[in-house]
Amino acid sequence: MSSEATANPSFPPSAEMVARAHADEAKYNEMYAASINDPDAFWGEHGKRIDWIKPFTKVKNTSFEPGKIDIKWFEDGTLNVSANCIDRHLETRGNQTAIIFEPDDPKEQAQSISYSDLHRRTCRMANILEDLGVRKGDRVIIYLPMIPEAAYAMLACARIGAIHSIVFAGFSSDALASRVNGCDAKVVITADHAPRGGRQTPLKSNVDAALLHCKDTVKCLVVKRTGGQTTWIQDRDYDYNELAFEADDYCKPVEMDAEDPLFILYTSGSTGQPKGVVHTTGGYLVQAAMTHEYVFDYHDGDIYWCTADVGWVTGHSYIVYGPLANGATTVMFEGVPTYPDASRFWQICQKHKVNQFYTAPTALRALMGQGDEWVEKCDLSSLRVLGTVGEPINPEAWNWYYNVIGGGNCPIVDTWWQTETGAHMMTPLPGAHATKPGSAMKPFFGVNPVVLDPHSAEIIEGNSVEGVLCMADSWPSQMRTVWGDHDRFEKTYFSDYKGYYFAGDGCKRDEDGDYWITGRVDDVINVSGHRMGTSEVESALVAHAAVAEAAVVGYPHDIKGQGIYCYVTLMNNQEPSEELRKELRTWVRNEIGPIASPDVIQWAPGLPKTRSGKIMRRILRKIAENDYGSLGDTSTLAEPAVVDDLIENRMNKG
Ligand code: WT7
Repeated sequence: MSSEATANPSFPPSAEMVARAHADEAKYNEMYAASINDPDAFWGEHGKRIDWIKPFTKVKNTSFEPGKIDIKWFEDGTLNVSANCIDRHLETRGNQTAIIFEPDDPKEQAQSISYSDLHRRTCRMANILEDLGVRKGDRVIIYLPMIPEAAYAMLACARIGAIHSIVFAGFSSDALASRVNGCDAKVVITADHAPRGGRQTPLKSNVDAALLHCKDTVKCLVVKRTGGQTTWIQDRDYDYNELAFEADDYCKPVEMDAEDPLFILYTSGSTGQPKGVVHTTGGYLVQAAMTHEYVFDYHDGDIYWCTADVGWVTGHSYIVYGPLANGATTVMFEGVPTYPDASRFWQICQKHKVNQFYTAPTALRALMGQGDEWVEKCDLSSLRVLGTVGEPINPEAWNWYYNVIGGGNCPIVDTWWQTETGAHMMTPLPGAHATKPGSAMKPFFGVNPVVLDPHSAEIIEGNSVEGVLCMADSWPSQMRTVWGDHDRFEKTYFSDYKGYYFAGDGCKRDEDGDYWITGRVDDVINVSGHRMGTSEVESALVAHAAVAEAAVVGYPHDIKGQGIYCYVTLMNNQEPSEELRKELRTWVRNEIGPIASPDVIQWAPGLPKTRSGKIMRRILRKIAENDYGSLGDTSTLAEPAVVDDLIENRMNKG
């Protein structure tokens, strides 16, 4: 069906896709009903898809009850994630490629790492970490480029029972320091430099700067990536390549409880500093692996590529843990979509004959703008399933993806999920559902979404309805707590709507009962698929001596989805200037990282506040959106003239 046929066009899968898929519509309906009617039986069965050292006898033990939030899955089982992702494949697929590494520079050779290689290298890394004093339950920070060592490091931690926390290599030394301290890490694993898009980030020197603010017992393990210069501190810095040369090839996987933490990943919320999302071992792996197989319709021998970075949850679940638990071949790409030119993604698809391709709408929008000729020169006939994640996809980008990249015969799985959910929650399955541009369609097995009225907190039944998205019950890969702050876990996710997990997103259920995510309903913004709390950018701005006050909102941005719009009130003695604007941009980049770089800074002599002093962001959002006609109720404003000033001064910069 063509996209202009109806208001809500829908694209059914081909007969061929339906025939080979793990689930067609009937199978989905049957499995979904079973998963909701009897979660214990359903997950008891599917929990067996991974190897247990001691099999579980209990399946689900979860409570969303206020004051008693507690989530346990498979709690009496024991297992090791690294053994599940590596050792159990050695007999049947030791020589099969586990990881294809595609470097930033296309002139550098790609690498194929077999499951036996992966075993050897992970064991060596695990032994090195043990020699550095890392034990079960200790925290290790990983601050690496997208190189295979990042996967070895994750799996090595999992092997010895250490809890990893990956910090995206684009984050600044300040952000890194707060995460090292936040989880009291023993070791930071980094590289000399990170090549990306032909440029280099000096990772090791960022670590040097960060560690000035950390305990002096923290050690640093340095992977050689570029061979570029770094400073070296004796007895604190360790050379990975040297140690790996001597390290033993075998390290016994440690027996872990299903509910032992696997990793912490810091993510932004609507208030305060980023929080450490804690995922545990058994339930996480089961759902990451199962979704990877069903959602991408992964079959043995397929080449699968997720373009995310391991610094985000997508990289955890869908580059490393899910695919490797399934014995898949997973591509790891170090670079960016536009280097050396806008055909890089498609060159890589052609070169490695990629079957499943998973990326973010922001990348698609950027590439779409470069024209179709970058795509047309590549052979994309290996592609079978396309995926998107991270933000709502607009119909133009969806149609381009479907027609130009997929040639009109690859289903697009628009996967809605979050750092907190650990794995896919809502998405079409490629052989089961006709897709609609922009719709996340259906809940995955075991996922029980409800649409609530934001005012009454009542469930809205029926179709053609809109409200906030909540989950009525737990799922295996749900986050278990906020590291070191279980109260914050309850407050953030379970207190606005009692008895439910509140995702922070708005959603619609259309006339067919399909779900559409409408975006965040809190003060979280989504910039190029990167999640950010407006409060974090505000704290960074007010930390500058010239700034008295700041309010930050998101506004629609053609490529990034949302841009960062900052209203800044300067100190009395400060004159606004172009230099100061530049300086503040650099300041925020240094405080958080380049992804938080403000798109627009508007000088604001005053901010619209209520009489009790609360900033009225709703109004600031409207001004940023250039939508002055519908400012809504302004009667509670303390000083209405402030708004007129802001509208008058509004600038369209960036
Ligand atoms: C937020 C979670 C999950 C991996 C990447 C982002 C938004 C995510 C979609 C989608 C519309 C989406 C939501 C969500 N989001 N996927 N398919 N359609 N919105 O993880 O950084 O934890 O962000 O991203 O707003 O709450 P994250």
